[in-house]
Amino acid sequence: MHTEYFIVDKDQPDKQTMQRAAELLKQGKLVAFPTETVYGLGANGLDSQAVSNIYQAKGRPSDNPLILHIANQQELIPLVTEIPANAQVLMDKYWPGPLTVVFKRTNIVPDIVSGGLGTVAVRLPASTVACELIALAGIPIAAPSANTSGRPSPTSAQAVLADLDGRIDAIIDAGICDIGVESTVVDCTTPVPTLLRPGGITLEMLMDTLGEVEIDPALNGGTQCIPRSPGMKYTHYAPAAPMILFEGTYPHIADLILKEIETALAAGQKVGVIVSEETAERLPATVVSAVYGLRQHTEEIAANLYTALRSFDDSPVDIIYAEGIPEEGLGLAVMNRLRKASGYKIIKE
Ligand code: TXA
Ligand code: MG
Repeated sequence: MHTEYFIVDKDQPDKQTMQRAAELLKQGKLVAFPTETVYGLGANGLDSQAVSNIYQAKGRPSDNPLILHIANQQELIPLVTEIPANAQVLMDKYWPGPLTVVFKRTNIVPDIVSGGLGTVAVRLPASTVACELIALAGIPIAAPSANTSGRPSPTSAQAVLADLDGRIDAIIDAGICDIGVESTVVDCTTPVPTLLRPGGITLEMLMDTLGEVEIDPALNGGTQCIPRSPGMKYTHYAPAAPMILFEGTYPHIADLILKEIETALAAGQKVGVIVSEETAERLPATVVSAVYGLRQHTEEIAANLYTALRSFDDSPVDIIYAEGIPEEGLGLAVMNRLRKASGYKIIKE
């Protein structure tokens, strides 16, 4: 299949181009598009066949449900049986934005969207391109991150094409995504809303707004827990080589990484690292490095994370060592992704 390539301005996308892309979605085609978090792979969310094509293009397990994207709050009403008070508070505060809310669903949501669950995840993105596309299509758009299942999410059109060129009908390129990690997923069907996936809206922001938030035990990597967000049980975000995550405080964490590097180099291994600028200054020259920013700049680290994880695709290494950061603000989402990317192979200080 030939993948049509559209380039638009992030803030003022060309109307005709957007209309062409929306037309493809209405015809049941697959269109990758940028959001403020990551690129999504969109299809008509009410068309089971179109949604099934998403699963096929990504190689995604069919019990991992998709998020429906809408362009205004009105479009939520036919999709859900009720809007709990807590959900309304969250929507008023954080929509449009990087927040996904889980509701009880109505019958117009195809089973394949919700992976057989009685619930549906809905998000109203802030990105102009995403919103205009959804509004022009006039339908809820099912869109997982536009990567091959198990790979790091794409934050650029180039990363989407690396995985899906020739497997999807079109892509809209509007440059790099601002936030760089996916939306926060909150289940509002529980008496106290439950955080299922940390993301662009931080836990601190949720606590501030709601006073009380439960945290899904599966978030801590507990294998004995049954994840309520089905996506959490699969390998995710995996780079091209095995990765070990280091957790601890600076500068001890850097000392620990440098020691491991020395051992690996002495054993003749080719080593890659994902580290802060502070640690990068101390690296041996033979190490392949992806630098994500200063340790304090959590937003910058989030924005660079997936590019860093993908940076070893073309420069093969035997092992990747990644430097963890404190779990404050976006740091919680960053650490959640790094832990999963490492398959929970973690060395603690
Ligand atoms: O930022 C984002 O959310 C991006 C952009 C494209 O909007 N989308 C995204 O979709 O990350 P995806 O499919 O890669 O991740 C959706 C997550 C998965 O962990 C999935 O299991 C969970 O949301 N999810 C979807 N529907 C759910 C439901 N009904 N109940 C619980 N979790 C759900
Ligand atoms: Mg994903």
